[in-house]
Amino acid sequence: KVIRLQDYQAPAYLIDETHLTFELFEDRTLVHAQLVMRRNPASEGAALPPLTLHGQELQLQALALDDRPLGGGDYQLSDESLTLQPTSAAFVIDSTVLIHPENNTALEGLYKSGKMFCTQCEAEGFRKITYYLDRPDVMSRFTTTVSAERQRYPVLLSNGNPIASGEEEDGRHWVTWEDPFRKPAYLFALVAGDLWALEDSFVTASGREVALRIYVEPENLDKCQHAMGSLKKAMRWDEEAYGREYDLDIFMIVAVNDFNMGAMENKGLNIFNSSAVLARAETATDAAHQRVEAIVAHEYFHNWSGNRVTCRDWFQLSLKEGFTVLRDSQFSADMNSPTVKRIEDVAYLRTHQFAEDAGPMAHSVRPESYMEISNFYTLTIYEKGAEVVRMIQTLLGAEGFRKGSDLYFERHDGQAVTCDDFVRAMEDANGVDLTQFKRWYSQAGTPRLQVSEDYDASARRYRLTFRQNCPATPQQAEKLPFVIPLALGLLDGRGRELPLRLEGEAQAVSGTRVLALTEAEQSFVFVDVDTRPLPSLLRGFSAPVKLEFPYSRDQLLFLMQHDSDGFNRWEAGQQLAVQVLQELIGQHRAGEALRLDPRLLDALRAVLADAALDPAMVAEVLSLPSEAYLTEISEVADVDAIHAAREFARKAIAEALYQPLWQRYSANRELSRQTAYVAEAAHFARRALQNIALSYLMLSERAEVLEATVEQFRSSDNMTERLNALAVLVNSPFEAERDAALADFAEQFRDDPLVMDQWFSVQAGNTRPGGLERVQALMRHPAFTLKNPNKVRALIGAFANQNLVNFHQGDGSGYRFLADQVITLNALNPQIAARLLAPLTRWRKYDERRQALLKAELERILASGELSSDVYEVVSKSLAA
Ligand code: ARG
Ligand code: ZN
Repeated sequence: KVIRLQDYQAPAYLIDETHLTFELFEDRTLVHAQLVMRRNPASEGAALPPLTLHGQELQLQALALDDRPLGGGDYQLSDESLTLQPTSAAFVIDSTVLIHPENNTALEGLYKSGKMFCTQCEAEGFRKITYYLDRPDVMSRFTTTVSAERQRYPVLLSNGNPIASGEEEDGRHWVTWEDPFRKPAYLFALVAGDLWALEDSFVTASGREVALRIYVEPENLDKCQHAMGSLKKAMRWDEEAYGREYDLDIFMIVAVNDFNMGAMENKGLNIFNSSAVLARAETATDAAHQRVEAIVAHEYFHNWSGNRVTCRDWFQLSLKEGFTVLRDSQFSADMNSPTVKRIEDVAYLRTHQFAEDAGPMAHSVRPESYMEISNFYTLTIYEKGAEVVRMIQTLLGAEGFRKGSDLYFERHDGQAVTCDDFVRAMEDANGVDLTQFKRWYSQAGTPRLQVSEDYDASARRYRLTFRQNCPATPQQAEKLPFVIPLALGLLDGRGRELPLRLEGEAQAVSGTRVLALTEAEQSFVFVDVDTRPLPSLLRGFSAPVKLEFPYSRDQLLFLMQHDSDGFNRWEAGQQLAVQVLQELIGQHRAGEALRLDPRLLDALRAVLADAALDPAMVAEVLSLPSEAYLTEISEVADVDAIHAAREFARKAIAEALYQPLWQRYSANRELSRQTAYVAEAAHFARRALQNIALSYLMLSERAEVLEATVEQFRSSDNMTERLNALAVLVNSPFEAERDAALADFAEQFRDDPLVMDQWFSVQAGNTRPGGLERVQALMRHPAFTLKNPNKVRALIGAFANQNLVNFHQGDGSGYRFLADQVITLNALNPQIAARLLAPLTRWRKYDERRQALLKAELERILASGELSSDVYEVVSKSLAA
């Protein structure tokens, strides 16, 4: 069944108050709901329409309308709904349903994770808890009473503030929570368990004291400090950067082990995947620490961008997600290095979102239709959505953007609104017209932007011509031109920034300026240009497009050294590496001997020698474009050639730059040995360089490197160094040391599931031959289970997405394996099954034989029996495209 944006209708009824009582038992849960309802004044007609409440997998025990019990003839039940006929414009519905959270493996609605009860209601999980108008434009005031056995569940939580509690005779107790803010059902949450809390407090700008609590299982209490610090930073930052204060007396985070996504912004009670909260030096890497900081902030920021102002319908999902991702990326940039953060975000977007945008599930930032909304929590909604809001900021400037966001929050506080409302606030606050810009919300696909230049020395004029076009995507053959903010600068022969003056302008502007491209083809002429300039284009990646400019390798080398824009210096290095790697790929395919362009070595040597450059930047430049990115930019990807070429280049770099790599490795390793672990940008940077240097050095297979790696593995005090040493050993030919390290690690961390996830991932990513067999063997390891999404991602997901040579093995065995797992998971956890499928949907990228093998597996899934809407939508769309 297809749901369409154009069919949106305002709800016929509203729910002013929602009073819930949960009775939690080991073998069942009873949910009593009292809904105080009235007709929606905005949808007045003559007669009272029937009322249809959503509900799935509920066993109805009792139903009453205005205290009058209803019998079977008074209502209709289907698999997905309950329909009855109200007799007055205002009424109260009481229902009791029985549900089975203890058997809920889909992790949607109320379920058990280990020994605790928890919920995940976004997008449409609340309908698995009780009969309700489960749509975000129905906002209600909630009170929630939770009753459970005191011994097993001493902590009972829900949204808002606790207002009453008590004991029952039989060892049970209860707590009542009241949330003063109206909210849609998707923001409802409940938690019950034996949890301990790290407590702290925060005083808001206007003086409200807020109690902060992070609830975890007792053994994890020592891993919450980093999340708490991040939360307090995020709360302060949102006051300063967006003028947004927290609004309740208490803010709670709960960590659960079984969770489909990263985390969830339920009002006052955020529920997190434990991987997105728990972090300490000994068990979590620097990357994990940064991810915790970013996700804690993201969920906190939703309190305004999502909760106070929410979405009218799920087509508007990017209204809250795109904006909130932008907000969390700005926060992370301010807390760490802005340039490094931008590099990471852009590399991620170009590798993964561009691939989604070119595949069969391509959709616009505001989609027009869907079968299963869970499938639309995508890179396009989140990451491209963030880029779209960032472009608005680039066009309006920081101040104009802040004026727009202030107006948006003020105008729509307490409302459920659309992306159009967001853009209108930006327009009204700045007196601009963003009509054409809004094509970014409605048109899918990644635009190509081709740029050509023409310099007239005698007239001192320099012309840049831009041509944009966007490939067809499913249901969208033709695209109209986008508004593309193009940040650029011009460099002279010594690398100095030229003043920029466009034809017709009175004065030159120095530094970066932003051109707004609006036409399919458009030229800009710069005047008074004394020498032939070298353009630095799309600075900071000012728009999510594929830029094409015929840079020579020498020009890229020049930009790497001289561009004033840090992001573009890195980008020049990437483009140079792409050119060199593509040349190697061509040589491999032609059966020729591989010859690496020495200019890449010179460039990397210079960067390694640059003591003034942020070590994190050095590490980023040293990281060659990934195999996944090289796949994305290929017309037809030759997996084996890409792998061979990239590995050849890595080895050549390791040999040629052995001395400087060793020098930077040992200097930083020495610092690590002398200083205690600190989770701060400067230290992340240092360790990033140390680690990438070590992974290059090991390619030399020299004894001194092996020795250093084993030493680092054994004696470092933090997971960043230890895991890197382990990964380096796993990918090395030194089998004895590798096996010893793996066994050692598993022994030491067998009781820490998040660390075991990393142990699985490192092995899943081992690109040596035999990858599939290793993964299959690991699935039989006692720490592995398909029921835990983190385990599925760590082992199967890492194999299919990061171990491309092994996954795409020519006989199709990797594909068959993945399809088998999808078929099993379809019955257990449809959301995870549908996500795991993604690599099979990319069949268009590969040679004909692999295409046939991939499609055969999609067909096999389709024929495997009763499919969830999640899996059905992805498979059927992939085969149709
Ligand atoms: N709103 C959450 C976030 O991005 C995502 C939760 C969505 N969960 C899901 N099962 N679809 O912060
Ligand atoms: Zn979010």
